[in-house]
Amino acid sequence: MAASFQTNLIIILLALVLSSSATIAQELDIAEPLSLGSEKLTRFRLYLHEISEGSNATVVYAAVGNATNPVFGTVAVLNDILALGPEASSKVVGRAQALSTNASQTESALTMIMNFVFTDGKFNGSVLTIAGRNDLNLKVREMPIVGGIGAFRFSRGYVRTSTIFINQINKTVVAEYNVSVLHY
Ligand SMILES: *[C@@H]1O[C@H](CO)[C@@H](O)[C@H](O)[C@H]1NC(C)=O
Ligand SMILES: *[C@@H]1O[C@H](CO)[C@@H](O)[C@H](O)[C@H]1NC(C)=O
Ligand SMILES: *[C@@H]1O[C@H](CO)[C@@H](O)[C@H](O)[C@H]1NC(C)=O
Ligand SMILES: *[C@@H]1O[C@H](CO)[C@@H](O)[C@H](O)[C@H]1NC(C)=O
Ligand SMILES: *[C@@H]1O[C@H](CO)[C@@H](O)[C@H](O)[C@H]1NC(C)=O
Ligand SMILES: *[C@@H]1O[C@H](CO)[C@@H](O)[C@H](O)[C@H]1NC(C)=O
Repeated sequence: MAASFQTNLIIILLALVLSSSATIAQELDIAEPLSLGSEKLTRFRLYLHEISEGSNATVVYAAVGNATNPVFGTVAVLNDILALGPEASSKVVGRAQALSTNASQTESALTMIMNFVFTDGKFNGSVLTIAGRNDLNLKVREMPIVGGIGAFRFSRGYVRTSTIFINQINKTVVAEYNVSVLHY
């Protein structure tokens, strides 16, 4: 009785394994052809412009954490401007769309997931994905590049970022991003 139950179980498991590998094979069959050139290192500098208030605000605080300890738990959603320079008139090449959370209970350190969405220039149509810890107490912060699409398929690398200025009057923060990315 027990033995035949075990046999049935093995047959069911085998069928499941076979059907899932068939699905994978089908997915590979329909995949578009992909030819990778040689991997290259590209380095460039961008400026992220964040406007925290007013009709052109690029940030919204989606959730405020612990009211008595606001350092922890705040969630912001960003659609910051990515430009070639720090001035408001600089050429815009895309947006930094991100989820930014105050994830430390002891200091101002953010856990961020960011997509650099390029809408102009050499990388128009491509997206670079960054995920990491942004410790605001450090002058220069480093975060990993974890991938991307378009020109940044299979990419890896890191960004180094520094806040250039915080203007309390027009509520603008500008941060410099030095990008070092390996891609094909
Ligand atoms: C918002 O941006 C537009 C276009 O750049 C500008 O004309 C306007 O003055 C800005 N509004 C504010 C409140 O800064
Ligand atoms: C909020 O933070 C305060 C101070 O750190 C702490 O005493 C309290 O337990 C926290 N409340 C919640 C709901 O986490
Ligand atoms: C939470 O993060 C924001 C950046 O989104 C930062 O300006 C602020 O200082 C942080 N809050 C605290 C209390 O650390
Ligand atoms: C905010 O003010 C600073 C300093 O005056 C200026 O450089 C910057 O262009 C202004 N930003 C915007 C969006 O108006
Ligand atoms: C960026 O790419 C989009 C989609 O291909 C295209 O419509 C747009 O004109 C391009 N923009 C520039 C400035 O090249
Ligand atoms: C970015 O690179 C420039 C040129 O090497 C350098 O002056 C600047 O300090 C760097 N910024 C950061 C945040 O690493």
